[in-house]
Amino acid sequence: MRVRAMLAALLALGCAVALRAAEAPPLILGVAWYPEQWPEKQWDADLGLMQAAGIRVVRIGEFAWSSMEPAEGRYTLEWIDRAIAAAARHDITIVLGTPTDAPPAWLTRKYPETLRVDEEGRRLQHGSRRQFSYASVKYRELCRAVVEQLARRFGGNPDVIGWQIGNEYTDDSFDADAVRLFHEWLRAKYGTLEALNRRWATAYWSQTYDTWEEIPMGTGRGNPGLLLDYKRFVTDQWRGFQRNQLDAIRRYAAKRQFITTNLGGLGWANRFNRTDIAADLDLISWDAYVGQGHLEPYRMGATHDLARGWKQRNFWVMEMQPGFVDWAGVSNSLDPGDTRAMAWQAVGHGADAVAFWQWRSALNGQEQYHGSLVGPDGGPLPFYAEARQIGADFAKAGETLRGTAPASQVAILHDYDSRWAIDFHRQTNRYDQLEVLLGYYRPLRDLTQSVDIVDPRAPLDSYKLVAAPSLNVISENLAKRLKSYVEGGGTLVLGPRSGMKDEFNALDTRRQPGPLGGVLGARVEQFYALLEDAPLAGALGKGRATIWAETLAPASGTETLLEYGAGNGWLEGHAAAVVRKLGKGRIAYLGAVLDPALMRAAAKWMVETAGVRAETLPVPEGVEVCRRVASDREVFILINHTARPATVSLPRPMTDVLNGGEIREREIAPRGVVVASVRR
Ligand code: GAL
Repeated sequence: MRVRAMLAALLALGCAVALRAAEAPPLILGVAWYPEQWPEKQWDADLGLMQAAGIRVVRIGEFAWSSMEPAEGRYTLEWIDRAIAAAARHDITIVLGTPTDAPPAWLTRKYPETLRVDEEGRRLQHGSRRQFSYASVKYRELCRAVVEQLARRFGGNPDVIGWQIGNEYTDDSFDADAVRLFHEWLRAKYGTLEALNRRWATAYWSQTYDTWEEIPMGTGRGNPGLLLDYKRFVTDQWRGFQRNQLDAIRRYAAKRQFITTNLGGLGWANRFNRTDIAADLDLISWDAYVGQGHLEPYRMGATHDLARGWKQRNFWVMEMQPGFVDWAGVSNSLDPGDTRAMAWQAVGHGADAVAFWQWRSALNGQEQYHGSLVGPDGGPLPFYAEARQIGADFAKAGETLRGTAPASQVAILHDYDSRWAIDFHRQTNRYDQLEVLLGYYRPLRDLTQSVDIVDPRAPLDSYKLVAAPSLNVISENLAKRLKSYVEGGGTLVLGPRSGMKDEFNALDTRRQPGPLGGVLGARVEQFYALLEDAPLAGALGKGRATIWAETLAPASGTETLLEYGAGNGWLEGHAAAVVRKLGKGRIAYLGAVLDPALMRAAAKWMVETAGVRAETLPVPEGVEVCRRVASDREVFILINHTARPATVSLPRPMTDVLNGGEIREREIAPRGVVVASVRR
């Protein structure tokens, strides 16, 4: 340890020394630690307790700008050297956050133009965080300067294993720089106003633009073409904001240090396109919070799958609630054992690290009530013991899980353009796209025990089945890719509202599913927002259409799978679901939101038709099975999400990773976890 600390100190002095990389374990427990908020003499006690809990990484720095640069150009980074060295003495590595989510007061005072302006034109003030404009040229310049200092100093530090840029990119801004950039962005995209006017159909309500500056920037009930482009612009701004810091870090940082950003607590949030933001990063990390209530296994599991899909790779949970938060309607605590189940669920879905937010609450500041591992006195809180158990679990299971990842034969497409396009105009407030997606996810996961959630641009060839609920926006390019996926042997199931719009968010003149109509051999004649359910029957079974229903007109060669029965006169006798063979595969269209039982039957049909043969384990209801594989082994993580013991019988004996020995049959305690591995 002393050698490491000495080397780090040498590096801090600017010596060019070749250092060995700090060894991070394959499965890491971590916490957010804010050393700048505590007297240095307390650090060791905190770190000692962390070490005893099995914590192997701390994220530091992400709100510490005023402690890093107390006045413009005056950098005080020595405390970070000391914090890193202190952590290293306890075998704890560092993820270093850039502090740009919380600009210091001197910055705001000196450069008020860096402050965010909200949609109503109000400029924010100092006193919270995220009060900056992501588009401000001056702000980006100031970010670059501080990040460069950090990267120069810590880019070779052996105990820094990675970087986090900012924290939870959140709010867009309506300041002068943002408006100017929006107009430049549109000009670069369309070239001429004539093209923009045509794509946005601006003759409607006299929206025709004669100069770029006339184009409003807003999010209200604007022109759908404008609204969709605005979301893409916001994405590009965050991407530019991130790249500015990324470039500075990459210039100085050792290759072994990963660069991530923390993509926020609500994985499904769609202020910007997270797949695009992820493209520039080495590692995805996100925050798994429950807030009010209890863990909802499918919803949380699907969110992990979504996060894994942003890069189609394993990820980190950079923040998890240690029991409870402070921002929910009722910030209740998860029950004992629930957080351990939640941590293992994250691992089962592909997390290689889970970090709690936060270690110890600041004595003052806006988050005094938030759950933590130790109290204001620095002594363990009740939750600490559960964290320690997770730390012990991770230490035991790390080597077995090294190099493993989930592997799925089924993918659900999640498309930001479509999310936005439908949410700008839902037609019925009952159409919640996340619920529709989960309607597909639940039965598909039950049947296959592993589902990926990916962007439509992701490579799809490895999937036997691709389901695309609510794929509203389909460009010619995407249609071509989907068509060749089907021709190559894939089964594609389009869900309701698919292929209504082109990439400019204009109605497709071919009607739904737009460019895939010819391929499907059917088109949607009309869509209906339902107040009352409508009966359905056919090859998939019997049940009800709820919330949304579309009538399809199939051509010959296209088979009808479901038809509407008597009820709503518009639907009666018309096809609700169709399928057609194409090349070596099949394309189907389900034009209605199905009730859960019929959806289960439809999912079964999808899986069978697509020839999915998943390696599943038979388990009682409420027990989740996650499978991670490497070339030489399979690891099954079984989580009993119920409050009752559950017995599982494995089809072949496996190694009990957490307790040692062999398992064939095992009772899993309420909220208990079993990790079982077997050679392949
Ligand atoms: C996260 C944020 C943290 C902290 C936490 C509280 O969204 O990144 O800084 O505020 O919420 O739950």
